[in-house]
Amino acid sequence: MRTEDGRIIHLADYRRTDFVLERVDLTFELDPTETRVEARLIFHRREGADPAAPLVLDGDELTLAGLLFDQVEMEPSRYDATPDSLTIRDLPASEPFEITITTVINPEANTQLMGLYRTNGVYCTQCEAEGFRRITYFPDRPDVLAVYTVNIIADKASCPLLLSNGNFLGGAGYGEGKHFAAWFDPHPKPSYLFALVAGDLGVVEDTFVTMSGREVALRIYVEHGKEPRAAYAMDALKRSMRWDEEAFGCEYDLDIFMVVAVSDFNMGAMENKGLNVFNDKYVLADPETATDQDYANIEAIIAHEYFHNWTGNRVTCRDWFQLCLKEGLTVYRDHEFSADQRSRAVKRIAEVRHLKSEQFPEDAGPLAHPVRPVKYREINNFYTTTVYEKGSEVTRMIATLVGRETFRKGMDLYFERHDGDAATIEDFVKCFEAASGRDLTQFSLWYHQAGTPLVTVSSAYDAGKGVLTLSLEQTIPPTPGQAVKEPMHIPLRFGLLLADGSEAVPSAVEGAEVTGDVLHLTARRQTVTFSGIASRPVVSLNRGFSAPINLHFEQAPADLAHIARNDSDLFARWQALTDLALPNLVAAARNARAGTPVEPDAMLADTLLAIAADETLEPAFRAQALALPSESDIARELASNNDPDAIRAGREAVFAFVAGRDPAVFAALTERHRTEGPFAPDAASAGRRALRNAALAYLAVAEGTPARAAGAFAAADNMTDLSAALGVLAHRFPDAPETAEALEAFRARFADNALVLDKWFSIQATIPGAGALDRVKRLMGSPHFTMANPNRVRALVGTFAFANPTGFNRADGAGYRFLAEQILAIDPKNPQLAARILTAMRSWRALEEVRADHALNALRSISNAGKLSSDVADIVERMLK
Ligand code: PHE
Ligand code: ZN
Repeated sequence: MRTEDGRIIHLADYRRTDFVLERVDLTFELDPTETRVEARLIFHRREGADPAAPLVLDGDELTLAGLLFDQVEMEPSRYDATPDSLTIRDLPASEPFEITITTVINPEANTQLMGLYRTNGVYCTQCEAEGFRRITYFPDRPDVLAVYTVNIIADKASCPLLLSNGNFLGGAGYGEGKHFAAWFDPHPKPSYLFALVAGDLGVVEDTFVTMSGREVALRIYVEHGKEPRAAYAMDALKRSMRWDEEAFGCEYDLDIFMVVAVSDFNMGAMENKGLNVFNDKYVLADPETATDQDYANIEAIIAHEYFHNWTGNRVTCRDWFQLCLKEGLTVYRDHEFSADQRSRAVKRIAEVRHLKSEQFPEDAGPLAHPVRPVKYREINNFYTTTVYEKGSEVTRMIATLVGRETFRKGMDLYFERHDGDAATIEDFVKCFEAASGRDLTQFSLWYHQAGTPLVTVSSAYDAGKGVLTLSLEQTIPPTPGQAVKEPMHIPLRFGLLLADGSEAVPSAVEGAEVTGDVLHLTARRQTVTFSGIASRPVVSLNRGFSAPINLHFEQAPADLAHIARNDSDLFARWQALTDLALPNLVAAARNARAGTPVEPDAMLADTLLAIAADETLEPAFRAQALALPSESDIARELASNNDPDAIRAGREAVFAFVAGRDPAVFAALTERHRTEGPFAPDAASAGRRALRNAALAYLAVAEGTPARAAGAFAAADNMTDLSAALGVLAHRFPDAPETAEALEAFRARFADNALVLDKWFSIQATIPGAGALDRVKRLMGSPHFTMANPNRVRALVGTFAFANPTGFNRADGAGYRFLAEQILAIDPKNPQLAARILTAMRSWRALEEVRADHALNALRSISNAGKLSSDVADIVERMLK
């Protein structure tokens, strides 16, 4: 474990390497506990570099077993080797030289899943961000690009499959039951994109013909017997490849593209050149075991990793501060892909929900950081929703500012200028400035200033003059290290809705630049007038969530209801419903805390019911409309002194009010939207299931008995309906015998499918209330659970901490103490996993004081625990600052 040394890396310290790496030749002799790695590296000193500078290579827990200089053993006086670096002196001033390094590593003992490790008997690697240095000493940074040849030698019986990046060169026997394979990747790449997989796996094969007519072999490797469950991933891959050609002109560039699914993985998946490695959760699906959400995730992540081939691999990052250059951009691309494959509006709603529930809290708490940070202690901790999701939103805003076609031109220019390069955010932005002729200097603040901007708006209509006036003000809250902020360039899509549902077209606009339907807010305060407006319009602002901001715009409930029922932008309709619901939910939470009765609003309930019953609207949209803002949405709105029990009690009262208002509407929905015939995972069918299951939750509450959900559980013929029914049973009727029976039936039926049992763990981990903690502890003792697998830990411990506000935030602090113990237990084995789960406490300062005090003590118990990984130490210290 790399322990905390407190060293901080600054962007301002960036400088190029003294040596240029020309070629890499790797030979692996695989063995479970003693794998020999020989790395032959050809370097030359960079022109103009200090002729006396030593070559300093990175390592992490390495021991040097041999070192040659131009094939001759190196004199010990010329180098120093420690577990984390190899320094070599007296190197040639300009001519190329060769260094051959031998290391011996232990994949079996590698529990942190970085570098070369074993998962279910399969050798696999994870090198982003700094895993390659756990394999051999190397200039392990993304701006060192080289061409790699990889030779793999392994036992033939246990490892019939030997894979690495690029194209297959050849293979042969290697005596004593061994064989070898050689791979060559012609595309220069940084070490973080290196991959090796060896083992015994099943395969699904297909081909793809690229736009220029080249045939590419496609292979998805999964455990034997699971091949049928990889069919959907293969389908998504082919659609992704086609889409990237059509939308961005990006063609695949090797003879083969491989995906390997593994069961132990710290993240979702990894875009290694030509050899993506996936958490099997994001590959395997069939109707019996996967929900519609699983299918959508698989489609999105397959696309995401494939799209990295151009945005990330062909053009990579100069340094890790530029992470959003590949991640924000690639998330934007996968969002656009899913929007094109499914319903654009529903996809946008889901994205915004996710952004608000994950990124907004991050940006409002102690872990807030800019999309392009300027310093870090542990890069693993910067794979955040700010870098990914806010990074995607910033990319989306560029597209909004310059327009779709110009955005494509800017992307073309980006590939033209930077193919084969390690680029920066500044390089990226310049391409859009060049393509559009727009100055994006002020806009770039989105990369540099952390915190969610708050835009406060008021409107006035002068009927006599026919003039609408909007007063807008932006404030950007202080965040760690950034007390004062500059005003940003905020693109707000808008419409002026008239009473009949049509839109007013102003004869003139003053006080702001308006391009098409985008209003550009650039100053701290702006007063904007729209003339020639014959009657009072309802202003629909930030349509499509064109800017990732908090908007405070006091609009009358009747106006919000008007938008919710009439806006041409479906996203805006959903947003208006949320804005209608939130004040109700906030008031309900306050009342619940004060012990006064909650009085839900009939207008909200009626608007929701009208939308639910509106058969002209797509079911998936109606399902989104029926999902009230979450407990964490309400907590964010309250901002401080949060009492999760009161928030839940208030929300439950509103939910029950809506449920009881007209249960016949929900009953009709469950009848009308049955999906007939064999299961199909397409968006329209998924939308109908989502609507029925949303209706089921309301009906169960209206009826107050588990009978209907138990019936749905028994009747379900797919995992979406089955897990939805189980969720209603467990969350609404935790103590009913029907619930116990259903939970046991589910467990027994899927006892041999760990991914499905993760749903069983998660559903139980999110049963609200103080009893949750004991339930989670009991489940940790289940034979189906193991702390050694990240998916299990996330499904049970992670879900409890992230998604069970009342259970985790127990008023006596027991949830926090439990989490602290788990973090300390996980950290020595898998620091990345420990650090990530710990971020569940990132909003602790917004809790009411009794809970906040318990949270503080739990965090202190971690920070005082002594030997922490750099990952956990970094998070806990930032949270305590
Ligand atoms: N680069 C991967 C992705 O977004 C994520 C990842 C990061 C995976 C670090 C593993 C380790 O697509
Ligand atoms: Zn990515």
